[in-house]
Amino acid sequence: MNLIYKNLLTIVALLFISLISCSSNNDKFISELIKKMTLEEKIGQMTQVDYRYLKDKSDIEKYFLGSILSGGGSTPPTNQPSSWVDLYNGFQKEALKTRLKIPLIYGIDAVHGHNNVLGATMFPHNIGLGCANDKLLTQKIAAATATEVKATGLDWTFAPCVAVAQDERWGRTYESFSEDPKIVTELGVASTLGYQGRTLNKNSVLACAKHFVGDGNTVFGTGTNWYKIDRGDVILEEKELRAKYIKPFKESIKAGVGSIMISYNSWKGQKLHGHKYLIDDILRKELQFDGIVISDWAGINEIDQDYKTCVIQSINAGIDMNMVPGSLNPDDNSYDDFIRLAIESVREGSIPMERIDDAVSRILRIKKKIGLFDNPIKSPPIKNIVGSKKHRNLARESVRKSLVLLKNNNKTLPLKKSGKKITLVGTHADNIGYQCGGWTIHWQGGSGDITPGTTILDAFKSAVNDSNDIHYSPNGDNLLDPDIIVLAIGEKPYTEGVGDRDSLTLSSDDKRILEKVKKSNKPFIVILISGRPMIVNDALNNSNAFIAAWLPGTEGEGIADVVFGDFDFTGKLSMTWPKSMDQIPINYGDSDYDPLFKFGFGLSYE
Ligand code: BGC
Ligand code: BGC
Repeated sequence: MNLIYKNLLTIVALLFISLISCSSNNDKFISELIKKMTLEEKIGQMTQVDYRYLKDKSDIEKYFLGSILSGGGSTPPTNQPSSWVDLYNGFQKEALKTRLKIPLIYGIDAVHGHNNVLGATMFPHNIGLGCANDKLLTQKIAAATATEVKATGLDWTFAPCVAVAQDERWGRTYESFSEDPKIVTELGVASTLGYQGRTLNKNSVLACAKHFVGDGNTVFGTGTNWYKIDRGDVILEEKELRAKYIKPFKESIKAGVGSIMISYNSWKGQKLHGHKYLIDDILRKELQFDGIVISDWAGINEIDQDYKTCVIQSINAGIDMNMVPGSLNPDDNSYDDFIRLAIESVREGSIPMERIDDAVSRILRIKKKIGLFDNPIKSPPIKNIVGSKKHRNLARESVRKSLVLLKNNNKTLPLKKSGKKITLVGTHADNIGYQCGGWTIHWQGGSGDITPGTTILDAFKSAVNDSNDIHYSPNGDNLLDPDIIVLAIGEKPYTEGVGDRDSLTLSSDDKRILEKVKKSNKPFIVILISGRPMIVNDALNNSNAFIAAWLPGTEGEGIADVVFGDFDFTGKLSMTWPKSMDQIPINYGDSDYDPLFKFGFGLSYE
């Protein structure tokens, strides 16, 4: 054996030994800590509260709370990175006042960038990334997002969503990379690696594969109209459930994902939040998931009318942490109710102490791995990270790769940068909020300048040689006499079940604008901003070119980059485009598959 080879072997062996001894040291640290903990301290660890619903900051110490989250729009009063760090440290200091000084872990939905933070880089939502279908790009986006999350002091993102959306009526279609489990699995794994790195360590942001399992393929459930699809029932047989929907979780676990969120939906009538077979037998035992199983937002509450039954069933099914999350309404169940009932249930023997110890050890193990015990108080470098030029350039690249060109008659596109008058029309041409969609600054997203970014109009003006060639008519009046019209229309932001729809046609305002544009007899291009394929046959048939732009985020230049020909279109549909509402749900592999545009469709200039 030559010397180099020998030395290499020694290094590998040493690394292996140090890895094993480090993990057994961690295990010892955790088992000793658990031995010292009272039942109250243990249940506190299992409790997650939205910071808005903390009745008093001192409740963190009083109830030994293990985790805080910021739900959509749960931002500090001044929404800037340093305020997030202060918010975090303020809560962490309360946790450190407790007897055992166990640090808390802070979670947030950083689902297309660090999207609650003003000035953060907002990347395209997952549906667009699915059309780009580029693993490395997806990993880089998650890594950039993690860097922005770290700069605000936070530990944990509730991402990636690895739902395999089958029903375009579902309000979360855009959170899904694709209707194809292979794309979802690959990009989900790439995201996890981007957030966490190869292993969980002090530089990681803890990722969360969600929602386990079956969201995206429900039949109408029993919820209110809005939530019918979102919280509906999955009626698939187990074989298909495993092959299509459990698969992305299985591979995420292999990639080291540290947490998994349970889904609101049910399987054959039984709510996932109380599903012992799926959570305990499959996820934990068979797939050997040893990270944190977290509930969704008040998700356990839907198991039963009686909250105590919900508490018992969810914990016994294998949920380690309850996103309670609290409420401002005194009639709702809050964290003190959860804690009281969980303690009572353990004392009565309805929840075994071993289950509690198992849940707590999972939570503590993750906290230990990401370095919280060593560095609970944060003072991250902040300058030039959140919304940095580098991240915005990456977002711009991902926008151009996510766009899908559906039609381009007579080479209407690319447009020339000089000598042509262009009129932009439609409310989506100059609206950062619309461009970003849901989960942006507010839970449901918003309209207008909700965060800094470049609109399509801004981007067009800077792309052409003379910005006077660009004219803007939001409602289609006063079109002037352009060489070409660019119509930017589509959906207004929504999130979760609020976006469940029976009809996916254009709004009456957009239809009116389309009529005006048609009447002008000018050639026109449509840029559709939407969270899913829509039934827009009139616009498609009458336009000269048509771009599905999804929800691109803050960097509108990515659209101008391809429209003016600096780059070619490379995006391919990761979701089938239906002909009519009657065809929905439609997915490749259906026996009667006859869509308007097939899965994988997308034109280019070449
Ligand atoms: C929160 C969201 C959450 C939602 C659930 C909102 O108030 O901000 O993060 O997902 O409620 O209904
Ligand atoms: C959503 C989750 C989200 C959580 C926290 C829930 O309503 O379903 O996806 O992570 O709220 O905001």
